[in-house]
Amino acid sequence: MEITEAQFVISNSDIKKCPQDGKPEYAFIGRSNVGKSSLINMLTRHNKLAMTSSTPGKTLLINHFLINRNWYLVDLPGYGYAQRSKKQQEKIKKLIEEYILNRLQLTCLFVLIDSRHAPQEIDLKFIEWLGKNEIPFAIIFTKADKLSNSKLQANITSYKERLKQQWEELPPCFVTSAEKKTGRKDVLDYIGQINADIQNS
Ligand code: GTP
Ligand code: MG
Repeated sequence: MEITEAQFVISNSDIKKCPQDGKPEYAFIGRSNVGKSSLINMLTRHNKLAMTSSTPGKTLLINHFLINRNWYLVDLPGYGYAQRSKKQQEKIKKLIEEYILNRLQLTCLFVLIDSRHAPQEIDLKFIEWLGKNEIPFAIIFTKADKLSNSKLQANITSYKERLKQQWEELPPCFVTSAEKKTGRKDVLDYIGQINADIQNS
């Protein structure tokens, strides 16, 4: 699947204001700074479609991007940014949860995990919460350029081992680098396949 057109549609903090045309959407979630916005730019081949920053906590709203006039990529705020005030953290948590639990068009949620780190409690808890709420999700290991291939493979293997303690079957897993632009085809083909299945059903 190839992206021929990517268009910013709306940013907001109210899920009622999200697009109502029912088109399938694919959202990106994960800790602040994990690379959600950068990945959207890499997938769409636009440098500045989604706003990125080296300072965590850049994305504060739900951002919809219409792709090929047919489906959406959604950039969400990150969770777990400790420098935010308690009130701000609560507000963002509520927004994310409200979006995930109520958005019927949410076709797959991509949970981004920084490939450099050992499994973090906050991500594992979030993934467990998705399971309890029966939210379809896949995992993307980001920033693959930041470590050697052997370390990358070791980290991913140990992450999968950890997930197997919780899950009978592993979710689909992808490895990307927004910097080196790797993993793009795998993620887009996965989305393309789901879109084709929806169209044929
Ligand atoms: P919030 O919106 O704050 O939650 O962050 P985010 O998850 O959207 O992260 P963002 O895309 O803004 O990227 C955070 C920082 O990581 C930026 O400095 C990016 O340049 C950097 N970054 C993102 N992806 C990659 C990657 O694949 N490789 C490298 N080397 N850096 C990356
Ligand atoms: Mg962001």
